[in-house]
Amino acid sequence: MLWGKGMKTHTSTIGIDAISYSVPRAYLDLRDLAIARGVTPAKYTDGLLVERMAVAGPDEDPVSLAAGAARRVLAASGRGADEIGLCVVGTETAVDHSKPVAAFLHGLLGLPSTCRAFETKHACFGGTAGLLGAVDWIAAGSNRGRSALVVCTDIARYALNSPGEPTQGAGAVAMIVSSRPRLLELEVGRTGSYARDVHDFWRPLDRKEALTDGHFSVQCYLDALAGAYADWKQAVGPAGLDVDRDGMKLVRTCYHVPYGKMAKKAHLHRRSLDGLGDAGAEESFATEVGPSLRLPGQVGNVYTGSLYLALCSLLHEEAEELAGKRVGLFSYGSGCTAEFFAGRVHPEAASLVRRLDLMAPLRDRRQLSMAEYEALRRADEGADRRPAPEGVQARGIPGRMGYANGHEGLVKFLGIDAGARRVYDLQ
Ligand code: CAA
Repeated sequence: MLWGKGMKTHTSTIGIDAISYSVPRAYLDLRDLAIARGVTPAKYTDGLLVERMAVAGPDEDPVSLAAGAARRVLAASGRGADEIGLCVVGTETAVDHSKPVAAFLHGLLGLPSTCRAFETKHACFGGTAGLLGAVDWIAAGSNRGRSALVVCTDIARYALNSPGEPTQGAGAVAMIVSSRPRLLELEVGRTGSYARDVHDFWRPLDRKEALTDGHFSVQCYLDALAGAYADWKQAVGPAGLDVDRDGMKLVRTCYHVPYGKMAKKAHLHRRSLDGLGDAGAEESFATEVGPSLRLPGQVGNVYTGSLYLALCSLLHEEAEELAGKRVGLFSYGSGCTAEFFAGRVHPEAASLVRRLDLMAPLRDRRQLSMAEYEALRRADEGADRRPAPEGVQARGIPGRMGYANGHEGLVKFLGIDAGARRVYDLQ
């Protein structure tokens, strides 16, 4: 279906079968942050296009968020843990220098012992590295009928009072990647890549908070978009760019969203790379990108999961009207690397999206006061050394896949045991 006349024939369909996410239970309204920092709220809401940012509590860490998202996607999609042959977790806020988040997930979800499980890192690109690796794993036949679980999980932290502070956030997105996907068929082997060694954003080993050369990072993102998009055009060839051919137009594009305005800058830049002028630019942004920014605007930057939270938003808003339509995806990881690729919304995506209930994780969140937010952020520093309650043992709970809408059924981080092991509990 994807490849026709003049393009290489490619019959396999591989892509995202199901998607869900989890966020912390609390958030900060960015108007409150603006007032506290002596900034006009419009700078954040109109200048950066952000409304709220999720803030992790003491029992929420990248593992608990990842487990929450993974449990939700498995339960809501009707997939069993025993169908998973590959579990990849993309993160840039790992909890251990050696043991990957994927190993914790393996235990907490009760994945099969024959499952390949590991973690990937390249700033916000880590999840895409996992997704594209999973697609190749299936295309190569290594899956032997099984599916992959790809989870992107992060807590985005910048220093209090820094320019990056309004662009924080936290959350995890979990995807099941399979052949015959029910949501988005990806164009296998047709991606555009870009890489360059830059210091636009980094987090030295002894720090919890990221450092960034903010305005330079914006330019690096745009340069990476130009490079990856040009390479994608080469990869798909003239037939893949022929917008007069039925179904070949990219009707929507999801971008990596550190904050909404960055996605807007990206879209306008891409239009200029296509030789399109300013006329119609605002309308194009509102139609082609706007629906993908609603969820990110409520959660903030979730780093590796940010592109896929944008995809959740798009599918929640428009899965029905996008049936059979082609969608572009742009992933950026500081440092830097990027990839531009495309997929097609499955005709039956809308009915699955209704079952996935993609608004559920945002229900019943609690709004923090500035004092509560600052207290949580200050307590963060010691979170990885907090002792777990006496007598509590690290445990996975194989086969127990409790699931509920909202925040019930989340995995909780309890602290560190006497042997410096992280301890989790499933409520
Ligand atoms: N009303 C409306 N708009 C206003 C305003 C007002 N009162 N006051 C300012 N603005 C606008 C500005 O005009 C500007 O818009 P444009 O970019 O369209 O010109 C916008 O608000 C932001 O203003 P500033 O550029 O002055 O903001 P800043 O310098 O304080 O910080 C930032 C912006 C550098 C992006 C900072 O938030 C930051 O460092 N963020 C973290 C780094 C980041 O997210 N980089 C993105 C690319 S890297 C990446 O994508 C990887 C990743 O996930 C981190």
